[in-house]
Amino acid sequence: MQLNNFDTAAFLRDYWQKRPLLIRNPWQSWQNPLSPDELAGLACEDHVESRLITQSSDDWNAEHGPLPETRFGELGKSPWTLLVQAVDHHVTEVAALIPPFRFIPNWRIDDVMVSFASDGGGVGPHFDHYDVFLVQGLGQRRWQIGGMCDDRTALRSHEDLLLLAGFDVEEEWTLNPGDMLYVPPGIAHNGIAKGGDCMTYSIGFRSPSRKELIGSWCDDLLPQMTDDDRYGDPDLSVQDNPGEIPAAAIDRLHAMITEKLADRAAFARWFGEYSSTPRYPETDWRPEEAIETDHLRGLLTEDHPLFRNPASRFSFVREDEGKLLLFIDGECFPCAGETALLAEMLCAQEQFVINPEWRKSDAVVELLAELYNRGSLSFDWG
Ligand code: SIN
Ligand code: CO
Repeated sequence: MQLNNFDTAAFLRDYWQKRPLLIRNPWQSWQNPLSPDELAGLACEDHVESRLITQSSDDWNAEHGPLPETRFGELGKSPWTLLVQAVDHHVTEVAALIPPFRFIPNWRIDDVMVSFASDGGGVGPHFDHYDVFLVQGLGQRRWQIGGMCDDRTALRSHEDLLLLAGFDVEEEWTLNPGDMLYVPPGIAHNGIAKGGDCMTYSIGFRSPSRKELIGSWCDDLLPQMTDDDRYGDPDLSVQDNPGEIPAAAIDRLHAMITEKLADRAAFARWFGEYSSTPRYPETDWRPEEAIETDHLRGLLTEDHPLFRNPASRFSFVREDEGKLLLFIDGECFPCAGETALLAEMLCAQEQFVINPEWRKSDAVVELLAELYNRGSLSFDWG
């Protein structure tokens, strides 16, 4: 699925990670994929992450879900906003908003957050560390855009929301259903609902910080290391001042760290697993009954399409000689030959029918059965 009048190459060149862009309704025919009631229902569920932001004069208060159903009836006249994370994991129609953005790699895509706001509602002026496409689903929202912020930008003291202490509006637009606004990381923005029933879909991206990368990779490396792998100096010679840590010792100590961190192959494998780890690992997507390979082969022969679980993350890293490492939901599956071709298709398509040649391959059917039994593929989503 493609967006109308939207030149992806020009967008990546001129706007992606650079500056905001307003895109007037680029959809073939826009239909709001979720009703306000359905969104409120999700916010009451245990396994769904949600927040309710209520406003009084110019202050914002945040409550974390799951919310009691009665909470919505208690809301008064002052503006409020409900935010629900990862709605694409639960609602196929919302997951269907993502394919037009697949010109950006799978590992960079995070989730679709959906908001509902009453008249005047919003989360206040803020900035995010991530790129986002803000798609107006229902009603109208006035978006104000400010300047570039960073971790030194002054914030209002608030325990939950990163609200800006000062906000100078540089540009503003009113978005109607189907319109969308791209906001790069760090750009101050503020969305205010105009009239009631304002729904916004945020297609959000991820970009790891250096701090997160180093910390998380080291967490993974440490348990694999042993206490007997130590600094050694059998070549020690007498030095003038015993207080000096000689350059040669620093070099050797530093190399103990950099050699480990320079292992690109180990890093690639770890990063594939890390970046494909499910965001909500406590949700169990496994089928009630595990499937046997023969049964699966039969279903594939009848051309039943298989669907990727919208909550699963699929990516791969290419290796030598047609081999690759497939990463799904935090697991690594080394693939070669037909399974490598299958892996490429799995990463490129949300749904597929397995061709007659591949069905004959035990390795293909076994990999598909494993992915089915782990809850990463199913015949039902779609
Ligand atoms: C919203 O949908 O109200 C907020 C989205 C955002 O500013 O990131
Ligand atoms: Co934002």
